[in-house]
Amino acid sequence: MALTLAARSTLIAPSATLAMAAEAKRLKGQGIDVLDFALGEPDFNTPDNIQEAAIRAMRAGHTHYTPPAGIAELREAIAAHYTNHHKLPTTWQQVIVSNGCKQSIHNALMALSGPGDEVIIPTPYWVSYADLVKLTGATPVLVETSEASHFKMTPAQFLAAVTPKTKLLMINSPSNPTGVVYSHAELEAIADAVLTTSVGVLSDEIYEQLVYGNATPTCFATLRPGLADRTVTLSGVSKTYAMTGWRIGWAVGPVAVAKFMGDVQSQETSNPCSVSQWAALEAIVGPQDSVKHMLSEFTKRRAYVIERVAQLPDVTCVPADGAFYAFMNVSKHFGRTLGGKKIENSTDFCLTALAASHVALVMGSAFGAEGYARLSFATSMSILERGFDTLGKFLEG
Ligand SMILES: Cc1ncc(COP(=O)(O)O)c(C=O)c1O
Repeated sequence: MALTLAARSTLIAPSATLAMAAEAKRLKGQGIDVLDFALGEPDFNTPDNIQEAAIRAMRAGHTHYTPPAGIAELREAIAAHYTNHHKLPTTWQQVIVSNGCKQSIHNALMALSGPGDEVIIPTPYWVSYADLVKLTGATPVLVETSEASHFKMTPAQFLAAVTPKTKLLMINSPSNPTGVVYSHAELEAIADAVLTTSVGVLSDEIYEQLVYGNATPTCFATLRPGLADRTVTLSGVSKTYAMTGWRIGWAVGPVAVAKFMGDVQSQETSNPCSVSQWAALEAIVGPQDSVKHMLSEFTKRRAYVIERVAQLPDVTCVPADGAFYAFMNVSKHFGRTLGGKKIENSTDFCLTALAASHVALVMGSAFGAEGYARLSFATSMSILERGFDTLGKFLEG
């Protein structure tokens, strides 16, 4: 008899960003010159000092299992970042290092939510949030935000979504896919609303160092006394240090929650890669010039992207204050024929742009926001130039 999948197999879909990237890669494999704006990863190589630290770690024999929650040196360095930089007194016991921030989010959800619980997620949200919530048996409750409100959830919207079943709120600032950064005051207002409830918070701050202009990142747990007791902060080295392939992320939370997350991880995947942990340690405590260099490149690209998006016919976009995405409203093109196909929704739009013009974007529907397409500007200026030229022609029909 054929194997039958567990009931949870119906709950989740494969990551749409990875699926679009895979399709772009397939076309590239056929020799097609794809202009790829699908994947959210820096195009830079991991800085040399970090690579060297990894080689030193291997040579020093750090190639064995580590403690499940990570090596003490890295947990201490992460705790020191929150204590010194964010003024959030943090001990290493509160830090769990995982195989990327994605696993940190999964562990946090496994530790804190389950069947019968509701988890509030403002839309547009990062592609994996809702499916990771569903995997725990809990129900994602989506709170719609709009382009007009710059994709920010208000405290009133949050409170209106709270029910006796609400366990958690997931927030992400700077945001993927919108690039929106909540101001300190806006997050304080949300924090105050949270404190009138018994809801806990997962705050995904993975883009905290990638902000532009006057935007400043906020560490949510610091906003009000007592908030750290009900907040798990999530972050990692993937974006800031161009280390997506090394798979190191972390969660910082109350000791009891961190302990259980570590226990979950010890049963699921044991420890994160030993060599990657030593590399991540160098990333955090070593020289930061490479971060400044990458940020200045992203800053130039962002300015260029804002200028070019504004020239695209019938496309609007809230300028990104953080991360490296342009979340373009392409809905005015729905009902039209582009690239020889009638476009009805964001999936049609992105699949046709890829097939007809070889431009890879990700459909807004993957982020819970129909009507949009996400363009990642974590790619070279020359690809951006060609990409916008091509997109402009595609939109002419
Ligand atoms: C908002 C957000 N959180 C978490 C992640 C996961 O990062 P990683 O698992 O590479 O550390 C990503 C990656 O795209 C992201 O955009």
